This record gives sequence, C-alpha cells and structure tokens, in this order.
Amino acid sequence: MPGPIYLSRLLTDRAMAHLEAAGRSAGRTVRVGREAPPSREELAAGLAGADAAVLTLTERVDADLLAAAGPQLRVVANVAVGFDNIDLAAARAAGVVVTNTPGVLDRASADHTFALILAVTRRIAEGDRLIRGREPWVWGPRMLVGLDVSAGATLGILGYGRIGSAVARRALAFDMRVLATSRRATPGTTADGVTFVDTETLLAESDVVSVHTPLTPQTRHLIDAAALAAMKPGAYLINTARGGVVDEEALVAALRDGHLRGAALDVFEGEPAVNPALLDAPGLVLTPHTASAGEATRDAMGILAVDNVAAVLAGNPPLTPVG
Ligand code: GLV
Repeated sequence: MPGPIYLSRLLTDRAMAHLEAAGRSAGRTVRVGREAPPSREELAAGLAGADAAVLTLTERVDADLLAAAGPQLRVVANVAVGFDNIDLAAARAAGVVVTNTPGVLDRASADHTFALILAVTRRIAEGDRLIRGREPWVWGPRMLVGLDVSAGATLGILGYGRIGSAVARRALAFDMRVLATSRRATPGTTADGVTFVDTETLLAESDVVSVHTPLTPQTRHLIDAAALAAMKPGAYLINTARGGVVDEEALVAALRDGHLRGAALDVFEGEPAVNPALLDAPGLVLTPHTASAGEATRDAMGILAVDNVAAVLAGNPPLTPVG
C-alpha cells in the first residue's frame, strides 16, 4: 500500500477536490490537516510516513522535520511562490523534491500591490477611518490630499521578476514612469516602457518604491535605514514580498520623522505577529498577507501544488521545482 499524501491546511474547495481526485487516481489516501496552521508536532505527525506533502508558507521545514517525516518522503509542494519557509539544502540532502507555485499568482499579487499603491497615495484607509470615527466632516480643497500617481509620478520596482513586471504593466496603464532593478537587465536600458537602473538611482528617483524580491540572506533588510534615507523625501514604500526584506523599525522611524509620506505592508518580519510600533506609525496601510487571495488564484495555486505532487509520485519530473 503506497504511503499517503499529507496536506497541512485546508485549500480552497476546488483545490481540495483536485487533491482528492489525485489521491484516488494514485490509489493513495489523503491525510488532511485543519484550516489553521499545524503546530510543529502536528506537522511532524502529519508528515510521518507520508510519500508526499502539500504545505503552505506557514509551515517551517528543516532537517529535523524531514528526518521525522521518514526516508519515504519524495516531494514537498509549497502552496506559494516564495519558499523561504523551506530549508532547501536540507531537502536536497534528504532527497526530497521541493516545488512552488510561480506564475499563477502574478496578476493577483500585482493587483493587490497596485491597490496598496492607490490606497496609501490616495489615503483610502485614512478616509475610511475618518468616516467610521463618526466625526463631522465636509468636503474641502485641502482635505485628505495625496499623491496623484497618474500625474507623472515615478514607480520604482525593486526586483523585476514575474510579479514586478505585472506591477509595471499596471503602473504604465496609470501613466506612471516606471524604473526597475533587475539582475538580467543592464542599467540604462529600456524594455516594455520600463527603464532599468541601479538600486541607488531607483531609490533616489522614485515617488513610490515597491519591493518584489524573494527573501534570501542577501535581501534581508535590503530596505534598511540607509536605503530609506536614500529615498526621495515624501516618497512611499510598498512591500508585498516578504517582511524580512524591510527593516520595520527603520520604516517606523522614517514615517515618524516625515521623511516618508506613507507606506503599505502586506507582509511582516514577525508574521503573523505585527510589530506594535507599526500600528501607531503615521501613513501606514496594512493588509494580512492577502496579495494572492483572489478566488481563481488560490484555486490555481492549490491545483498546481497538487499537480506537482502527482507528477513526482508518478515518476515524472516536477512541474515547477525550486532549488
Ligand atoms: C505568497 O506570499 C507567496 O509566496 O505565494
């Protein structure tokens, strides 16, 4: 009897149905966790004896956990494009294939990024709070005035990958000037309406800086106090990538002293804990890591993870391996 497929957390209904069908056609049982993240003990118990696992970004996978899972484990499919929750070297050493879900969440993540850009520059959350505060208000020429992104503002995209380039397309449709950093493009060149620059130029010239790099040892605190100081006075910072890319204490200081006019974060350094200093910082819009939370997108992410598991269990190459 082949070992089960373990799913750590409930996926969307369509993805759950896809997993059940994949389990049936492979003649395997599916061991399903709850909607909430498993504790480390629950995760170890879920993985024990499993041939394959579908996990989410809330599950930390390291050498100890892989050892507890057992030598039969063949594939861990992360339901996320990011995979900083998985120790790839440990997985490689254990002979476990790791996959992610690139491509299927680009548009949703770019939409959310752009929603945050508009929310912070046009002070949407502030306006919502003002009305809910039940204070009297009246239209005024100086009321809640913010940055017109479509009046010649510059967007700087740090990390011109799939999601960064989808954000660029939205920004160009809003008549923004778009700068980007990319490991694959030479600074000074232009493609698809985007001008590639070095990080220094991007920080100095952008009215809005949006972070789209993965979290790696090299990008941890890429946006630190020095990078924030190098940004244009009155600029905005958006982070929908990973919390660790931004030094939150430095960001709070830059918002408090008025060097930045605003920021929007979808991801946090201590996620799901949110640094209380962020809650009192001026001009900050927060969302709870929901950039990819579109219905069709979440279906597609779950389905791609399941298809990766099915491919590996059938002896085929994974569709979207990492590492
Ligand atoms: C979400 O943050 C993802 O990496 O897919």
